[in-house]
Amino acid sequence: MTFERTNIASMEGYVPGEQPKGKAVIKLNTNENPYPASPEVAATLANIKVEELRRYPQALAEDFRQIAAQLHQISETNIIPTNGGDELLRLALTTFVEAGDNVVITQPSYSLYPVLADVQNCNIVEVPLQDDWGMPVDFISTLNQSQAKMCILVNPHAPTGVLLDTNYIKKLAENFDGVLVVDEAYVDFVDPTQSYNCVPLIDSHNNILILRTLSKGYSLAGLRFGYGIANESLANPMMFKTRDSYNTDHIAQKLACAALQSQEYAQANWKSIRQSRAALTDSLNELGLITTPSQTNFVLCQVPDSFGAAELYQALKKRGILVRYFQQQRLEDKLRISIGSEEENITILAALQEILAG
Ligand SMILES: Cc1ncc(COP(=O)(O)O)c(C=O)c1O
Repeated sequence: MTFERTNIASMEGYVPGEQPKGKAVIKLNTNENPYPASPEVAATLANIKVEELRRYPQALAEDFRQIAAQLHQISETNIIPTNGGDELLRLALTTFVEAGDNVVITQPSYSLYPVLADVQNCNIVEVPLQDDWGMPVDFISTLNQSQAKMCILVNPHAPTGVLLDTNYIKKLAENFDGVLVVDEAYVDFVDPTQSYNCVPLIDSHNNILILRTLSKGYSLAGLRFGYGIANESLANPMMFKTRDSYNTDHIAQKLACAALQSQEYAQANWKSIRQSRAALTDSLNELGLITTPSQTNFVLCQVPDSFGAAELYQALKKRGILVRYFQQQRLEDKLRISIGSEEENITILAALQEILAG
């Protein structure tokens, strides 16, 4: 006997990456930022008084909407503040997809998408990426043939790090009748010379919903703050109908505002992560762990046949280094390694060298 709805009873929940207690572990498994949030965020936190928590927070996170709008040079009515990027995904499915509808994602992709689709009781249609992780050649026709209500693309892609350029996203949005969610959780780490800025597309394309998060680029994974960027026709139903009342709390709103206002600090952080990414990529390749060129704060690498990825994951774990191993199709011979601090990157490389040398 269960009180769960039928689809909830038959589904599996999301399995998060390991979060070990204690500080001794080098944690390169969940793509957290290795550097602290900005000094302005720390000062804002230190100045919050318990008295401020007596009242409810700003219901629409108005201050945050204004600061985010200014940053992206759009209107605050285009910003949907959420409790982490994950809440935006849940809101998008709740608002735009009926039970039984199809939602297209690529395979592989962020493993939360199918879980949220199960909750909404809609169907996930997984379209395999090409061998080099490029988009399938006939993706647009597959999308339309499936009569999908929504397509969720992660860009740059997780877990491969591959970036799709803005023209591709534009073309996709133009040829698709449903809502195109562009999950930009890792966009802050993209090389600025690349074509990556999809924000201006929301004016001309009313079916694009962009996801942003402060978890990665702003070192605030523990805060739970993200936001959507979209034309008002997508933003308004989420802001005024399906969102929980007070979905972001007072402390989170204040720190999120401080984080977005520390642009100089954030951009210096992204630059140093890009530099570390380049150095780590070269060193991994030299060790025979062939990487996919990444535009994120992680790299996916292929483990040599002589040494299984699961074994390498365990050997690193024994030495107090956590990376991500996915026991799933196309990824079971690979490891995803988050870019750590310089010291952490040196430590993992030394450990890999020793382990692979036997
Ligand atoms: C691809 C992708 N999208 C969205 C998120 C959501 O991030 P958060 O809920 O921490 O903002 C994550 C987090 O790991 C992610 O990897």
